[in-house]
Amino acid sequence: MQSEYQHLIDLSDYPVAWWTKLLDLGVRIKEDPAAYAHECDGKIMATLFYEPSTRTQMSFQTAMLRLGGRIIGFDNPANSSVSKGETIKDTTKIVSSYSDILVIRHPLAGTAKAASLTADCPVINAGDGGHLHPTQTLTDLLTLKIEKKTLSGLTIGLCGDLINGRTVHSLCKALSMFKDNKFIFISTPELSMPAYIKDIIKANGSTFEEVNTLESAIGRLDVLYMTRIQQERFATREEYLAQKNTYVLDRKKMLLAKKDIIVMHPLPRVDEITTEVDEDKRAMYFTQAKYGVFARMALIMTILSENKGSETLKGKVYSGVRCGNPKCITNHEEYLPKSFRSSGDETLLECEYCDERKLI
Ligand code: NCD
Repeated sequence: MQSEYQHLIDLSDYPVAWWTKLLDLGVRIKEDPAAYAHECDGKIMATLFYEPSTRTQMSFQTAMLRLGGRIIGFDNPANSSVSKGETIKDTTKIVSSYSDILVIRHPLAGTAKAASLTADCPVINAGDGGHLHPTQTLTDLLTLKIEKKTLSGLTIGLCGDLINGRTVHSLCKALSMFKDNKFIFISTPELSMPAYIKDIIKANGSTFEEVNTLESAIGRLDVLYMTRIQQERFATREEYLAQKNTYVLDRKKMLLAKKDIIVMHPLPRVDEITTEVDEDKRAMYFTQAKYGVFARMALIMTILSENKGSETLKGKVYSGVRCGNPKCITNHEEYLPKSFRSSGDETLLECEYCDERKLI
């Protein structure tokens, strides 16, 4: 399967120079959004949200409307033919023939990649299960660029559900591409950062440390990125309850932080940041959500103006081998080629859709 369109499935599919150009555009849009009001006149964006969303969906829609384009889509698949058993392939094939750009969020890892294989327009990954969330990362990078004036030399603490949180996976992959960033992972052992992300950080030359209390790290941080415990991604309610409320950022802990720290959160917040912190000028999460519109305006403009085309499956199909991740799209939609990247010796394979590793 091969696609003729340029998609955004994972930021790592693009060189850093592409992201920085896009972020520069995001800064210019923030300074004068009205100057871009007709960039997408006559264009249609479809948003297919198979999972709940407030910010991502509405900021994409706002971005397109502010660029002069129009929007179609659903945010409740129960009201579409999905409820009749339609596959991702068929839904995206049809909707992409109605639109110029398609934004998709789905609970299974690798779904945006799967959609991009047959869509007749560019596909943007707005979150695929616990895997990746590249457009949140563009939002986060834009926030750092504006508020910290740099994307390098930062000590970044990431706290909470690091195993299931797709935003922190994409963010760490991206920030490890810039010089001298150091990561401090603050989580319980059950919710620690996946090994494949740690390997990418190391391979990119960045360093990380793992701790299990906020107090032991907060004083050293330039950026604290809080995350929600992802209740919907736990196998049982008991497992979720055992992790709930482990990390709560409050006014007392903020006293231990640097004067110029910024506190970020992709939102929604549940109870991991008390509302008293909202009054602290170092709390940046609401501003971050606002910047999401500028980041997505820049992304839509970039994707629609370049549209160079890209190949989407680069791995290999191994006879009888399938991904071991039950939450991978390839285990739910049978027509998809089960494509893997090999680490060289072909005994350790990596699923090309969800990055899960498998020894054969
Ligand atoms: C995040 C997501 O959906 O992954 N939210 C968002 O896109 N702003 C984080 C979350 O749901 O916890």
